Order: sequence, then C-alpha cells, then structure tokens
Amino acid sequence: MTTDPPAQAMRICALHDLPAQGGREFVLAGRNGPLRLILLRHADRVVAYVNGCKHFTGTPLNPNGIGNFLHPRDPSLIRCGVHGALYHVETGACAHGECAGQGLDPVAVMVRDGAVFLA
Ligand code: FES
Repeated sequence: MTTDPPAQAMRICALHDLPAQGGREFVLAGRNGPLRLILLRHADRVVAYVNGCKHFTGTPLNPNGIGNFLHPRDPSLIRCGVHGALYHVETGACAHGECAGQGLDPVAVMVRDGAVFLA
C-alpha cells in the first residue's frame, strides 16, 4: 500500500531529476527566504539536507553553485567544497573535519509516483 502525499505537499522535483549517484541542489521559497536543499539518492531512497555547513553556519557546501556534493573517492560522504568537512550521506552526521559532533540538518521528503515531495 502506498500513501499519497498530502494535497498541500510541495513537490520538489521529479525523481529522474536526481543523478543516479550524487546530489543536486534545489532552492525553494520559504517563509523566511530561500531554502537551499541538497537532495541525494541513497540506496533505494532519497535523502535531503539543508545546504548549510556546520563549520560556518549557513555556508552552502557548494560555494560556486556546482558539483554533486559527493566526495570524489568515497560516494558515501558529502563533502563541503569550502574547507572539506565530510558528512555521511545516510545520516548527515559529521565524518571528518570542521563539523565534529554536528551534522547536516535533515529535511523529510517522500517519493510518490516518480516525484519527490517535502514530507
Ligand atoms: S564552510 Fe564547510 S568546511 Fe568550512
């Protein structure tokens, strides 16, 4: 049994808009200004985090606006492009660097009918 997203659920993208490996940034209109999100495919699901490094709070992990967010030699890690902090894709927890004891802020998403929605 599948559950339909609530009628007011915000659609972020089509599932096929996400690369098979790596992430992509989406900027949504939020109540307090733009909300920058990182969406990544992980195993058979989609994970999402606020695109803000814990080293310098709020600094986007892709300062030049490009890249797929993954560490080039270990795709289980998200890499901050500013100073190289590493986060686990699965949980967002800091793995190494200037984020010790912290983690990326998770965002609940759901996949239905080939699209990704804010949950
Ligand atoms: S801003 Fe991300 S590691 Fe410094």
